[in-house]
Amino acid sequence: MSDQPKLRLGVNIDHVATVRNARGGAYPDPLRAAKLAEEAGADGITAHLREDRRHISDADIEALAAALSVPLNFEMAATDEMQAIALRHKPHAVCIVPEKREERTTEGGLEVAREENRLAHFIAPLREAGCRVSIFIAADRAQIEAANRIGAEVIELHTGAYCDAHAEGRFDDRDAELERLREMAAFGHSLGLEVHAGHGLTYDTVVPVAAFPELRELNIGHFLIGEAIFRGLPSAITEMRRLMDEARA
Ligand code: PXP
Repeated sequence: MSDQPKLRLGVNIDHVATVRNARGGAYPDPLRAAKLAEEAGADGITAHLREDRRHISDADIEALAAALSVPLNFEMAATDEMQAIALRHKPHAVCIVPEKREERTTEGGLEVAREENRLAHFIAPLREAGCRVSIFIAADRAQIEAANRIGAEVIELHTGAYCDAHAEGRFDDRDAELERLREMAAFGHSLGLEVHAGHGLTYDTVVPVAAFPELRELNIGHFLIGEAIFRGLPSAITEMRRLMDEARA
C-alpha cells in the first residue's frame, strides 16, 4: 500500500428513502441502510434534505444525527430553512449544493463566484457551530478560488460530466473531463482546501478518480443503492471500497 492518506467513502442513502416514499410508508428505512453501510466500511453517511422532501425527510435527518457512529454529511441548499435545520443538528459536515425543483438530481455545481458575498455570510454560522463546510462545485478554477475566498474548508468536485460521458460512450469527452478533474483536484489542494468528489460514480468510473492523490473523500449513492438490489448493500459497498483501495495502492 502507498503512504497516501486513506480515501474515505461516504455512502449516500437518499435513494433508500426514494424507494420507501414510492409507497408512502416506513419501509425500507434509510437509518437501517446507514447502519448496515457503517458495518460494511462506510467512513461516513451522506443525506440530502431537498426542499421538496422528495426522498430524505426531516425525521430521517433527526434519526441519522442521533444514531450514527460515523460522521454525517448533510447536503443542503443555501436557504434559511436548511441553515436552521443544520444549526439544530450540527452535523459533522455540511455540503452546500445547488437545487432546482424541476431537476431529477443535482445537475451542476454551485455558482459560488457569482454569489460570493451571500455564501460567505451563509456559511459563517455553520462554521461557527463546528460543521465542516463543503461546497459542491464544477471542476472550474474560478469556482474553486471563490470557494476558498468565502472560507469553505472543503470542496466537492462534481464528477457527473465525466460519468455521463463514460456512460454515453463519448470517451474523448470522458478523458478530457477526467483530466480537468485531476488538474482541479491538485489546484484545490494547493490552495489548502480538502478535496472531495462525487456524483454518478460506478465501479466502471471510480478507479481513475480514486487514484488522484489529493482526494480525501468520495460520496457515492445512486449506483450503490441500485447495486444493492442485485448483490446486497454490504457487498456493493465492499466492492467499491476494494476498487478505491486498489486505485490508491
Ligand atoms: N455528492 C453530492 C454533492 C451529491 O449531491 C450527490 C447526489 O445527491 C452525490 C455526491 C452522489 O451522487 P450519486 O447518487 O450519483 O452517487
